[in-house]
Amino acid sequence: MPPTPLSWSTLPRRFQILLGGVVLFLITIFALGPPSPSSVPTLDQVKDAAKNPHLPKVDVSLPTVEEVLNLAKPSHKGPAKQANSTAASEYRLIKWMSDFKWRNPYSSKTTLDENSAVLPPLLDRPPIYTFYDTRVKKEKDLKDAENRLILAWRRAWWAQGFKPQVLSRVEALANPHHELVQRMHLAPDVEHEIMRWLAWGNVGGGILTDWMAIPMAEHDNAMLSFLRRGEYPDLSRIASLNNAVFYGAEAAVQDALKKATTHALLANSTANSDKIAELAKKEGGLMVNLLPQEDVKVDKTKNAIAYYSKYTMAKKYGGKARAIVEKMTNTTSPEGMELLANLINAHLQLTFQELYPEGISIVQPLPEHTTALMHEAINIARNLTQCPASPMPKSCPPNRQNCKPCDPAHTMKMQLHSALQNSSKQYTIGTVPHPYTLTSLHYAQDSITPQFLRTEAQDRNMWLAALTSQIATKDHSEQYRLVDFKELVAARDRPSTSLWLTAERVEQTDLDWIFGFFLPQIAKSKSDDKSSTPADLVLSPRPGEPLPNPDVKVPDESKVETEEERLKKARDVLKSKDKNQIKVVEATELWNMADTEAWKFSRAFAARRRIERLLWEEAEKKFAGSEKSVKGAGGSWHD
Ligand SMILES: *[C@@H]1O[C@H](CO)[C@@H](O)[C@H](O)[C@H]1NC(C)=O
Ligand SMILES: *[C@@H]1O[C@H](CO)[C@@H](O)[C@H](O)[C@H]1NC(C)=O
Ligand SMILES: *[C@@H]1O[C@H](CO)[C@@H](O)[C@H](O)[C@H]1NC(C)=O
Ligand SMILES: *[C@@H]1O[C@H](CO)[C@@H](O)[C@H](O)[C@H]1NC(C)=O
Ligand SMILES: *[C@@H]1O[C@H](CO)[C@@H](O)[C@H](O)[C@H]1NC(C)=O
Repeated sequence: MPPTPLSWSTLPRRFQILLGGVVLFLITIFALGPPSPSSVPTLDQVKDAAKNPHLPKVDVSLPTVEEVLNLAKPSHKGPAKQANSTAASEYRLIKWMSDFKWRNPYSSKTTLDENSAVLPPLLDRPPIYTFYDTRVKKEKDLKDAENRLILAWRRAWWAQGFKPQVLSRVEALANPHHELVQRMHLAPDVEHEIMRWLAWGNVGGGILTDWMAIPMAEHDNAMLSFLRRGEYPDLSRIASLNNAVFYGAEAAVQDALKKATTHALLANSTANSDKIAELAKKEGGLMVNLLPQEDVKVDKTKNAIAYYSKYTMAKKYGGKARAIVEKMTNTTSPEGMELLANLINAHLQLTFQELYPEGISIVQPLPEHTTALMHEAINIARNLTQCPASPMPKSCPPNRQNCKPCDPAHTMKMQLHSALQNSSKQYTIGTVPHPYTLTSLHYAQDSITPQFLRTEAQDRNMWLAALTSQIATKDHSEQYRLVDFKELVAARDRPSTSLWLTAERVEQTDLDWIFGFFLPQIAKSKSDDKSSTPADLVLSPRPGEPLPNPDVKVPDESKVETEEERLKKARDVLKSKDKNQIKVVEATELWNMADTEAWKFSRAFAARRRIERLLWEEAEKKFAGSEKSVKGAGGSWHD
């Protein structure tokens, strides 16, 4: 929890409310132990508070260095500790524990608590830094546009398993080597380059990138895997990315700073300004070229990082697109940067689409009565397969010029399957129902009674059995299937190739952080109304519903409506505090232990992922590019 030497009254009202909400939430969870669900704001409420549109509009411009220095200095050191945790939910508290015993089929054997799920320990996210000088005076529109780009940078790196952090002059000023630099009179861009190294050295080295450098590759790409390991024996830059990405250990960075800041050229920087400017133009940037060549290694690994600098853009997309490229690389044009943010987003989605040549599999076990369960999964699949809105729809990411651009006439494949397929070339989206929900839908019962369970609902764990029917054989036990499912959800030893929703949660809010890009929220309509889109953005139509599964009889509309009603009723029963209802729900859980475990596990996994990000977002909110400093973040390009 942030200690607050900063005076409460000096904080903007928006932060007071927000901080209040979050502090209450954290205290309740971490100090008072498991609360009664009604006394704690739900996760959704906290998130609402974070994005609350009802609060008065306030200026979101960032604090100046001076302001920040006078307050508690936000420093970027030390990872937050992870605790056994809980999250409030409309349906019962979500509880989990992180432990290496997560592969045991049943969590309760480890937790001795029926409600708690055992999740694999969180993977360490190595920090990745970028530098943003908040001191430079800029128009608000331009600042907003820059913040949006930084947010795109943060989202993309987060999704790849890193912890992106934005450094500012505060960190640079704290570096002991800063004093020397202060006395030099350096040109602004020269100073900027040294400042970002000073800030980087001060937080202990690691990875430093430009915020126009975005990861665009498969999760287990060699370069990304190397960077994720967090060990950087040599101070290095990446070939052909100029000064966009560096990595190295603290000692190496500080040593480089010592050598560079005592370089003869900098001793009289005014007299040598021409020579310094010359050096800054060379590949690698000023710092690298002030150092002996052998001090900075050049990494020639296959490039996983797309860099959207003015130079790269002009080189790769010149020609016919010149006008729009000039607009996008104009660093004083908010509209241009907005378009660039859209281009980056489009390239990220394109990269995702290309990673799964077999398309998206929407898995719907027991399809006869579960149409209502699949609406959200299908919505997500349709948006994922849609061609992204882009200012240059036929373009490829700068690091992968031979890609296959998205073609609205042949979008990524999307199929309904009634069981998991054994393929890593497709992305799977599924919905996990609570056994009560499933029993109610499957047997077409508006309410379930213990008697019904005893006499009619004979089959146990139907959902898991149907889900795994193609990847397991008949004699594979429930435990075996459960572990398979958990490995798929948690994706510990392999890249994640699936997304699991729970049937009872109505809304999905953090998809953009899972995928690293925001899903298209608008599509080209038949009437082709362009009035609400920026002139240069090309929209694509939204793909239709997936074709029905050929082996399944398509239910008619009235049947689906009945199902939807039934789903609502099941949600109400699961929320109910009524003793009899609770008893029935517990009975369905005991009757379907494996299905219950699958539901608990995927629900807790999603909740922990959300909390991990919210806590980080909370810690980062003082910095540029956080969701809170960006209008309309977490959604589309428009407000
Ligand atoms: C989580 O709970 C387990 C078992 O109760 C305990 O061994 C472990 O130390 C706890 N971890 C934390 C971080 O509290
Ligand atoms: C820097 O160079 C200028 C011009 O050559 C000279 O006048 C000045 O004395 C030098 N300053 C120092 C500190 O050497
Ligand atoms: C960049 O954009 C600004 C504001 O939109 C405009 O005034 C300026 O002329 C543009 N510069 C170039 C080189 O196009
Ligand atoms: C899934 O596919 C892999 C590789 O294609 C194969 O080795 C494995 O046996 C398959 N598993 C099942 C259950 O079919
Ligand atoms: C998908 O796109 C539609 C508009 O085309 C939008 O209304 C919907 O909210 C989007 N869904 C998701 C999950 O992004």
